[in-house]
Amino acid sequence: SRVLVLNGPNLGRLGSREPDVYGAQDLSALRVLLSEKAATGTEIDLRQTDDEAELIGWLHEAVDTETPVILNPAAFTHYSYALRDAAKLVTAAGIPLIEVHISNPHARETFRHTSVISAVATGVIAGFGFDSYVLALSAVGRG
Ligand code: DQA
Repeated sequence: SRVLVLNGPNLGRLGSREPDVYGAQDLSALRVLLSEKAATGTEIDLRQTDDEAELIGWLHEAVDTETPVILNPAAFTHYSYALRDAAKLVTAAGIPLIEVHISNPHARETFRHTSVISAVATGVIAGFGFDSYVLALSAVGRG
């Protein structure tokens, strides 16, 4: 089975982007880490886009293929009602969707304290660096 690990805008810059906040490792290191931690027979399908439409299309794909989702919506977290509606399509279909954040947005700027995604997510994990994703894998029973 497969798990979609979807990453939103600017997360392609991990490793060089604010390493004090997000760490020094990049997305390919995250892909390796999750592949190591995944249960036998679980394929990690990790993707990143800066494009809201592409991310929404991937959530539609999750619905159509009944694939669990680990989603780091990045800055879309705080304002994208379109992404929220797409996330709701996933959980309303009974498919788990875990919202993850590398940092703890609640300990940062006020605009990061609001998530328009959380209310339609199965659950939220934030503040544990790349381990937020590892914990999410466990949350969907694939860790
Ligand atoms: C983030 C937190 C968001 O506020 C920010 O816009 C990001 C990354 C995180 O993983 O900590 O791009 O989602």
